Amino acid sequence: MNTRKILVTSALPYANGPIHLGHLVEYIQTDIWVRFQKMRGHECHYVCADDTHGTPIMLRADREGISPEQLIAQVEQEHRADFTDFGVAFDHYHSTHSDENRQLSSQIYLNLRDAGHISSRSITQAYDPVKNMFLPDRFIKGDCPKCGATDQYGDNCEVCGATYSPMELKNAVSAISGEKPVEKQSVHYFFELGHFSAMLNDWIRAGHLQPEVANKMAEWLQNGLQAWDISRDAPYFGFEIPDAPGKYFYVWLDAPIGYMASFKALCEQRGLDFDAYWQTDSQTELYHFIGKDIIYFHALFWPAMLHGARLRTPSAIFAHGFLTVNGEKMSKSRGTFIKARTYLDHLNPEYLRYYFAAKLGSGVDDIDLNFEDFTLRVNADLVGKVVNIASRCSGFISKRFDGLLSGECAEPGLFQQFVDAHATLAELYENREFGKAMREIMALADKANLYIDDKKPWTIAKADGKDVELQQVCSVGIDLFRLLVSYLKPVLPTLAANAEQFLNIESQAWPNQAQPLLSHRINTYMPLMTRVEPEKINAIIEASKQNLQKTPPAPVKRSHPIATAIEIDDFAKIDLRIGKILKAESVEGADKLLHLTVDIGDESRSIFAGIKSAYTPDELVGKLTLVVANLKPKKMRFGLSEGMVLAAGPGGKDIWLMSPDSGAQPGMRVK
Ligand code: MSP
Ligand code: ZN
Repeated sequence: MNTRKILVTSALPYANGPIHLGHLVEYIQTDIWVRFQKMRGHECHYVCADDTHGTPIMLRADREGISPEQLIAQVEQEHRADFTDFGVAFDHYHSTHSDENRQLSSQIYLNLRDAGHISSRSITQAYDPVKNMFLPDRFIKGDCPKCGATDQYGDNCEVCGATYSPMELKNAVSAISGEKPVEKQSVHYFFELGHFSAMLNDWIRAGHLQPEVANKMAEWLQNGLQAWDISRDAPYFGFEIPDAPGKYFYVWLDAPIGYMASFKALCEQRGLDFDAYWQTDSQTELYHFIGKDIIYFHALFWPAMLHGARLRTPSAIFAHGFLTVNGEKMSKSRGTFIKARTYLDHLNPEYLRYYFAAKLGSGVDDIDLNFEDFTLRVNADLVGKVVNIASRCSGFISKRFDGLLSGECAEPGLFQQFVDAHATLAELYENREFGKAMREIMALADKANLYIDDKKPWTIAKADGKDVELQQVCSVGIDLFRLLVSYLKPVLPTLAANAEQFLNIESQAWPNQAQPLLSHRINTYMPLMTRVEPEKINAIIEASKQNLQKTPPAPVKRSHPIATAIEIDDFAKIDLRIGKILKAESVEGADKLLHLTVDIGDESRSIFAGIKSAYTPDELVGKLTLVVANLKPKKMRFGLSEGMVLAAGPGGKDIWLMSPDSGAQPGMRVK
């Protein structure tokens, strides 16, 4: 067998949120495939990175009062820990906010520009006049122009399903400042995707895509390819475009280049030849595992970009479907939006690796995590079938033979059947038919159990003079168990490592050449996997409901005056600042409200406060107060309130005031 050189990636998770079980479908799927390739002796490199750029990350950092760099560093740590604990073993995990990525993105852009594939023109977009930034569609809210539903996002209506441009929204407001957006022009840079229609037409039919994906792409191609807007105006967290000051690469331009950047960093660490993997005539293989939601970027933009920059295109894109939980979309309120960490707090990660493997095929069908089925499968297959073989046989070997296996194989035929299964199993793994592979392996496990049931070592053990037979039967059982574990090793690396320790053997390769273990001494058996406890699943669902309950649905009347204790992390989320009251006005038609304009350092906010009975406007102007600056803007009958001033005193009417001579400055953070 000749050694293949394979580079594998999983999609780069966004650095603005935690890893959840949906993500893990992909990382576990890829990890299994990579472990399989490595076990077979191929040179396989698995790289990934955090996808760090873009407006949502910039705004979240802003809200949390930290720099985007601090935010992405913190999230990267969490992501890495989640992956490690789920056994997802990247050869390298990088960041798109890295020197390698800046350099490669600039280079690819310049190559595309020099080959005439970049154009620029002025476009009109919604602009937030308070925040001084252009607004991505999802940051504009208003009433649907078709059905009038309120509070809809800038590009489509969740009530009637209409799609539209954000400028068509009625009563549109910026979701960031609450201000009415204005239209503004700006020059944008475009990648001329249309130059690549012929190339893409061939490429999508040349076996790089799953058949259903190729068909979808063909439809898109038929509708014609639009130039792709690859620039964003400052302020934007990303890389500045080399020849266009104040313009930044759109996050999706540098994200896939992040695959290369991560691999580049790996090459530097390990002395690998980067160019050998990326030049047009490369003899290596390149595979991207992705979810079906990002096919467009990977099957059209990415090959076109690579081709245009005179680099190799992917050998294949492997798309998978989406995870549903108990038959429905993951839902925060049902507690089925489960973070990787929440799962890890309660259950063995290898249960989930096995369950996903058992459900995965080569297509893009969604996969369902049904917790009853999960419990049943793991308990029946892994605990009841596989691990059971070792626990049934090992006791006799330890107690009666001091851990020594028989000197001859009593069932060479059965043993060979297990070895011969390697060819089918390898083909299934190679083709990502993991579900079928698991079924084959469980069929073998059934055979091994049948053999033991048939021989009944527990009966032999009671008879006199049958030691040789007892040792032989149990040795066969142990050896079949060993082969099963080697086939499961890509899926269950921890169980496999523990089994190797118990069996007292070296790390197992793919067992196509396996020979029986003869006169070999094994260690004492320790339980390799325990049953799934249903209470743990309930605990996960409960914890997930709590995790995400940011705003309690309705104020709860408490008999006890002390509110629920919050974690320090919850407190840290509050952006509490000194604000200076610039203006205070009565509000027509509201006898309790004052309308305040408050300077909070980098901007001024419009805030409505029910304090009219405690103050006259004059008493307030020029005073300092405390403001919760990251409270979601709230639409009130009289206008949008963009924060809250803290009140105390009798009836909660008085606000906390400080004289301007105190030395405090608007914008100072209070903690
Ligand atoms: N940052 C982009 C990818 C850039 S790749 C150059 C992105 N990030 S993501 O965090 O939203 O998703 C990462 C991967 O997880 C994607 O392949 C996505 O399809 C996958 N999944 C996210 N949620 C998922 C489910 N609920 N189910 C299955 N896969 C899911 O997209
Ligand atoms: Zn509508």
